[in-house]
Amino acid sequence: MKRITVKTPLKKDYDVVITKGFDELAAEIDRLKLSGRKCMIVSDDNVSPIYMNELRSVLAKCDIDCIEYSFKAGEESKTKETVDSILDIMVEKSFKRSDICLALGGGVTGDMAGFAASQYHRGIVFVQVPTSLLAMSDSSVGGKTGVDYKGVKNVLGAFYFPDLVYMNTATLATLDDRQFYNGFAEAMKHGIIKDEHFYEWLIESMYEICDREPDTLEEMLYRSVNIKRMVVEKDPLETGERALLNFGHTLGHAIESDRMGVLLHGECVALGMVAAAYISYKKEMISMEEYLELRDMLVPFNLPITVDNIDIDKIIETVTKDKKQDNTGLKFILLKKIGKAVIDRSVTEDEMRAALKEIEYTDDIE
Ligand SMILES: NC(=O)c1ccc[n+]([C@@H]2O[C@H](COP(=O)([O-])OP(=O)(O)OC[C@H]3O[C@@H](n4cnc5c(N)ncnc54)[C@H](O)[C@@H]3O)[C@@H](O)[C@H]2O)c1
Ligand SMILES: [Zn+2]
Repeated sequence: MKRITVKTPLKKDYDVVITKGFDELAAEIDRLKLSGRKCMIVSDDNVSPIYMNELRSVLAKCDIDCIEYSFKAGEESKTKETVDSILDIMVEKSFKRSDICLALGGGVTGDMAGFAASQYHRGIVFVQVPTSLLAMSDSSVGGKTGVDYKGVKNVLGAFYFPDLVYMNTATLATLDDRQFYNGFAEAMKHGIIKDEHFYEWLIESMYEICDREPDTLEEMLYRSVNIKRMVVEKDPLETGERALLNFGHTLGHAIESDRMGVLLHGECVALGMVAAAYISYKKEMISMEEYLELRDMLVPFNLPITVDNIDIDKIIETVTKDKKQDNTGLKFILLKKIGKAVIDRSVTEDEMRAALKEIEYTDDIE
């Protein structure tokens, strides 16, 4: 079992516990003095049938009365309406401010349950039990919650920090391969932006990671979450350095909306990381060898490094309209070397276009 304490700008810090079962959850609930309260468990209809009963029986030991709510799995459910359904139940069951809202599932579940928790009585106790690798390596830590609205991703939301994040890595056994590597992309990103030793360790541990070897996954998450902790502690509300976590996301998000429903978020981030590394190489910030290594090392982790049928003009247009473009110019995250990312405001449209051409799949033989 591993524990990381994350400091927040509010007076409460929270722990991230990384372990291989649900056995230690009761002790964590005790530590937070949450026994005897009511708990709303939010989950989706893939995760709930697999883990709800086990979780309920652990919480029953803490004398916690559980109310379940499960929604149809998928990003399409990440709406205000689903949050309303969660809030309706809390009102109906007379939840108090001291009661608990618990997210059991991937990032969609965590973002919505967290948003509901932030709204109810101006904030009730919030526990994250992430079950996807993306939620463990990224979304459950850092306090961003929210929903999509009118076709815009995450446009409604709040910073709301959890009281506890409990990662049971055994749940990763039921995650399908594509979802697993999707989450891996964010762990890899953490190494690339901040810690070359972690990046090298990920490459060395490639076989164990792909085999989902339990001790390796625990170590990987410990190191990945620790990097995210460092960054979000320094800049909890994203006014500066937290933007480094957007490495691969500027072009990645735009590719994601262009190929909506075809490519997963982590896959688009992988493509965005290749593009950003290419721009870094062209600006002579990293060498060609570093660029090629970074690109090729995504392949054994089943992440794409090229993409077909992209509309480059549309992607550029999306990026220039993107929220990361504030009044000081487009904020792009580039690399000084593997393990050191920097914020750059000098990336031109032509440079982005060249990077998109670089990752565009073409079977033309010249
Ligand atoms: N809050 C943040 O900081 C942050 C950061 C990154 C991403 N996100 C958000 O996270 C969401 C993506 O998260 P995600 O990829 O986890 O999506 P998700 O929650 O939809 O989960 C992906 C799929 O895996 C299934 N699943 C989850 N755990 C499982 C398990 N253990 N066994 C079997 N199936 C399982 C889910 O039912 C779903 O079908 C997006 O909405 C994104 O905006 C938030
Ligand atoms: Zn991401």
